[in-house]
Amino acid sequence: MLAPMARVVVSSVLAVDLGPLLPAGTAVIAPGRGSYSRAELLATLAEADALICLLTDRVDSELLAHAPRLRVVANHAVGVDNIDLEACARRGVMVANTPDVLTDATADLTFALLLAAARRLGEGERLVRSGAWRGWEPTQLLGVPVSGQTLGLVGLGRIGAAVARRARGFDMPICYAAPRPVEGAHELGARHVPLDELLAGSDFVSLHGPLTPETRGLIGARELARMKSTAVLINTARGACVDEDALADALTAGRLFAAGLDVFAAEPALSPRLVACDRAVLLPHLGSATHRARARMAELCAAAVTDVLAGRSPTHRVGP
Ligand code: DGY
Repeated sequence: MLAPMARVVVSSVLAVDLGPLLPAGTAVIAPGRGSYSRAELLATLAEADALICLLTDRVDSELLAHAPRLRVVANHAVGVDNIDLEACARRGVMVANTPDVLTDATADLTFALLLAAARRLGEGERLVRSGAWRGWEPTQLLGVPVSGQTLGLVGLGRIGAAVARRARGFDMPICYAAPRPVEGAHELGARHVPLDELLAGSDFVSLHGPLTPETRGLIGARELARMKSTAVLINTARGACVDEDALADALTAGRLFAAGLDVFAAEPALSPRLVACDRAVLLPHLGSATHRARARMAELCAAAVTDVLAGRSPTHRVGP
């Protein structure tokens, strides 16, 4: 008897066609364009052996109950806060993510945001486009310097370390906060310090850790109050690591120079108070948005599914 055809559900159109990357004979179930809604996704899962999903798909007990044959979830992201890892483990569903391939893209974007926020590029662009610009002025849109200023990295994993390498080109002294000293930090010139010391001593604070119960709301009113009024906060990690109301308070009161945010607590919903802050540079979660990174993320998802369908553990397996 022929083995039944494996069925792979892909919750969204990805940057590359997955068909040729999956084992011959695999049935790929995917939307014609855009992404499946939650209801559509649940409705496709009854026969699915594998799911390739986005960080915007919640993989929880409800979803798993709709997918009795599911063996693997390949998350098209490095962050896995959208996935209930315990529930997957209980059901024997393996989970994989896409590290490394998006590190440079995300570190580049972090630096773009850092420069944009420090030098007020958002305000400058809006001024030019508005037609209200009357020409060069000695005191127009003055920013804060970047070169030689202290960078504080909250988290020194792959992306944090890649940001540190870029910061060295700007002669920035670097410190980092992490639960324990990170191997290789010394070669990056990064000094391990307690979070409070980092907040008080940094000109730029950039967040680079996963969203976990411990990091949810990590930067709130108390932490923002410790930062210099000339400092800039950058977040390309997860929006919920920052208390957005407290950040809006600090920016509105001039207790923080600027913020560069690529991620938001309830994407795509935005805090109207943050939108109203001129000094906040806001991007639509573009960290990994290069053709190369997105193609490689899709390839890693296909590789993880191929591994599990062949009875192997995926290279980038994540567990509870
Ligand atoms: C990730 O991979 O977690 C990013 O946020 C997606 O760009």
